[in-house]
Amino acid sequence: MPKALILPRAAVETVQAVGVLPAKLVSAFSTHLVTWQRTHGRSSLPWQNTRDPYRVWLSEIMLQQTQVSTVLGYYARFLERLPTVQSLAEAESDAVLGLWSGLGYYSRARNLHRCAQEVMTLHGGAFPATAEVLQTLPGIGPSTAAAIASFCFEERAAILDGNVKRVLTRLLAFGSDLSQAKSERDLWSMARELLPAAQEMPAYTQGLMDLGATLCTRRKPQCLICPVQRLCLAHQGGQAEDFPVKTRKLKRTAQALWLLRAERSADGAVWLERRPSSGIWGGLHCLPVFEDEAALLQALPPRSREAVVHGAGFVHVLTHKDLHLKPVKARLSENEQPGWANEAVEPGVSGWFLPAEWSVLGLPAPVRKLLEAS
Ligand code: ADE
Repeated sequence: MPKALILPRAAVETVQAVGVLPAKLVSAFSTHLVTWQRTHGRSSLPWQNTRDPYRVWLSEIMLQQTQVSTVLGYYARFLERLPTVQSLAEAESDAVLGLWSGLGYYSRARNLHRCAQEVMTLHGGAFPATAEVLQTLPGIGPSTAAAIASFCFEERAAILDGNVKRVLTRLLAFGSDLSQAKSERDLWSMARELLPAAQEMPAYTQGLMDLGATLCTRRKPQCLICPVQRLCLAHQGGQAEDFPVKTRKLKRTAQALWLLRAERSADGAVWLERRPSSGIWGGLHCLPVFEDEAALLQALPPRSREAVVHGAGFVHVLTHKDLHLKPVKARLSENEQPGWANEAVEPGVSGWFLPAEWSVLGLPAPVRKLLEAS
């Protein structure tokens, strides 16, 4: 249920009518935000102070659903190995997934690779310079396209990721339910109306991101030191935390997965196979996965079935799903056939991998942890 608003109705209706944001609000908002960004915002992140679209694009994709502190190391390692869009386009997909391993949301890495290939084949090796064309590329949505175009080309293009939705719905006391497509469209048009002149775009866009990440947080926003406090309608009504309004929430689910760590007695190699490209951990190398214990045991030769060792189960939390992972260890001799290898397994891609080979594979973080723990 949407929360009841106690703001004066007139104020709410004024800002909900599309195309008529008060001119004073529009100019004051960007002026305060840009000034604050230049004095208090973040300015020394490794993807700032560059207009190279390859670097900016890579950072924006990594920063989707991942915190800055986590991205820093991955970003540096990725650029060291693959410093240009051409090098990424020509890289093996295993190398790209390996560099992404542990960041999660692996469809981002697969799209990143495809995007680099399209930049090479369809755009002559140069990223398109407008948000409109950027968003035709794999993995680049409207908000990411706008961020790249604004940072690299000073285009007046609006971003609207989750943090920015929070900032703007509070500023405007925008009380419509963002689960509805029409409300989301209205907020996009208001985001466009608020844009400053082109030369202010990089600081403005970064300012929105910085404000959403540091002061205008979901819980306990720091309104007292906010640069736009005096313009913020939600703050005036004492209701900052009531925005944004979103009624439809995705339900969390849970799933149990049994992971077989089959070790070859002779040399300690472990059987890993590449996951199908869609679904959980798509395209990554992984221990064979089973839906229940019976199926796992069934796949083992009878002799090793009797000697399996159950490891401690643990929960791995994905955005909308809790994975209850149950590791089981088995030892196989040289000539035993892995009965779990399904027909889709590609020779050379799936098979026995020695410990020294694990580091370069794209592995899901919990699987890497399991492998390295024993
Ligand atoms: N999140 C998304 N883009 C970002 C950026 N450019 N800087 C910091 N955090 C971000």
